[in-house]
Amino acid sequence: MQEIVIHMDRKYWEKIAPDYHEEIFDVLRNDKKRVIRSAIDRVASPTKTVIDAGCAIGKWLPVLSPAFKKVIAADISEKNLVIARKKYLHLVNVEYLRADMSGSRLQLPAADVVVCINAVLTDSLKKRNMFFHNLSLCLKKGGHLILVVPSLESWLLTRIIQHRWNIDMKLFDMKLPEKEAAKRYQDILDGNAEIDNVPTKHYLREELELLLNKEGLLIRDHQKIEYEWQTEFVKPPEWLKKPGPWDWMILAKKK
Ligand SMILES: C[S@@+](CC[C@H](N)C(=O)[O-])C[C@H]1O[C@@H](n2cnc3c(N)ncnc32)[C@H](O)[C@@H]1O
Repeated sequence: MQEIVIHMDRKYWEKIAPDYHEEIFDVLRNDKKRVIRSAIDRVASPTKTVIDAGCAIGKWLPVLSPAFKKVIAADISEKNLVIARKKYLHLVNVEYLRADMSGSRLQLPAADVVVCINAVLTDSLKKRNMFFHNLSLCLKKGGHLILVVPSLESWLLTRIIQHRWNIDMKLFDMKLPEKEAAKRYQDILDGNAEIDNVPTKHYLREELELLLNKEGLLIRDHQKIEYEWQTEFVKPPEWLKKPGPWDWMILAKKK
């Protein structure tokens, strides 16, 4: 049988676009403590420009549009942008741009703020390196990056809890063919953990510090975007409440 490996490239995101609402986790709705919105409020101004890098179908545009002078909504997927453009016609300060943030010839105007929420997910190190490089390039000196990414600590905590208390046993079936198990082990060593069978980059907090520093971005604040256990398990035990699973949110400043 031929092995099918799915990568989070342009084709993947174009294919997901029509069913985006059902397929993709909604960070805006699940950030119950409004941690990301507070970070946006800290750096927003009616005189500033913001880039929403990997905006998808534009869920954050109603938050960003009233807080900034101009919003550039950038995504690799044309279909996502078509959906966003149609839905947010009334947001007149939004410009839509199809752009590959992992491309070597990216041309985006320099912005005061870049917001990038769960978009640097590819398992390709080369593409991630370019993505981070470009995030820094399209920021003005002294500008701010608000970055949200999956947490590797949270992913591992979920597996430890699942295994220790036998939660959702059928869904976490660990018996894999040898070749697949070896591949997944190798992936984990790179922080590429599976979400719905797609290797997805997860980050350690200290890893983020290192790789943002390399791009001239200094971390000013880091916070957990904490979710309910229902986002990880179908049947979480009654007693399992805190700590919940989380994504990392980083607020960084360009030197
Ligand atoms: C999980 S969605 C997150 C969307 C949005 N930021 C949100 O929070 O609702 C990831 C988005 O990143 C986009 N993306 C992935 N790689 C990209 C790249 N290299 N350049 C631009 N956009 C990219 C995808 O097309 C997808 O729309």
